[in-house]
Amino acid sequence: METLEAIASRQTIRQFDDRPVSQEEVAILIRAGFAAPSNNHLRQWHFLSLVDLDRRRQLLDQVIHPLDRKGSQKVIDNWGMQDATQREMYLDAIPLQYSMLLSAPVLLIPLFDQLGSVLHPETLSGLNAFASIWCCIENILIAAADQGLFGVTRIPFPEESKIVKEALHIPATFEFPCWLALGYPAPQARRAQQIAIDPLSRLHIDVW
Ligand SMILES: Cc1cc2nc3c(=O)[nH]c(=O)nc-3n(C[C@H](O)[C@H](O)[C@H](O)COP(=O)(O)O)c2cc1C
Repeated sequence: METLEAIASRQTIRQFDDRPVSQEEVAILIRAGFAAPSNNHLRQWHFLSLVDLDRRRQLLDQVIHPLDRKGSQKVIDNWGMQDATQREMYLDAIPLQYSMLLSAPVLLIPLFDQLGSVLHPETLSGLNAFASIWCCIENILIAAADQGLFGVTRIPFPEESKIVKEALHIPATFEFPCWLALGYPAPQARRAQQIAIDPLSRLHIDVW
């Protein structure tokens, strides 16, 4: 695939086919991740791959209690969400939070070494390590799309992050920006409708 094609084809998938993904295929994706820019040149990134399905289930049972469509509707009503396309995406996504992580052939936990608190940065550069790992994650998603693999990132709630870090013996200075679930899409996998954006309408020349 051409680069622009791979970028354009990347999309979020939350329902996976059983087709396995080998460790070699995962290594190709992580190699692409390590080609991303990094704030301090060190690329202090690690990845935990949750391979053992029983252990994975035990962990997910502790941290994710998915809502059904009705419960999800209440949540997004409370948020005051109005846009119909955005509402539909959330209504589809919220009930799948547990199953997408359990059923994904590859479930990675990307980790970055964070000096100081990522939640209370004193300056924008205090967020550099966090920003860098997201560059890495996006590279992985694009490389995955190139290989016909798709997936989803889930942001952990604070308690979720704490439990996962303890259970998996993650060193104290490392942070976990998201879960990263990947695999081949199930035949019936739903894809969110996208909101069309004309790039030129977002490009401001010389002054806003
Ligand atoms: C920073 C970030 C956080 C996200 N958090 C979640 C999440 O917690 N759960 C989820 O199912 N999807 C999550 N997503 C996926 C978005 O819902 C998805 O990227 C968005 O709806 C656009 O759709 P697309 O990826 O198909 O283009 C997240 C994406 C990003 C970039």
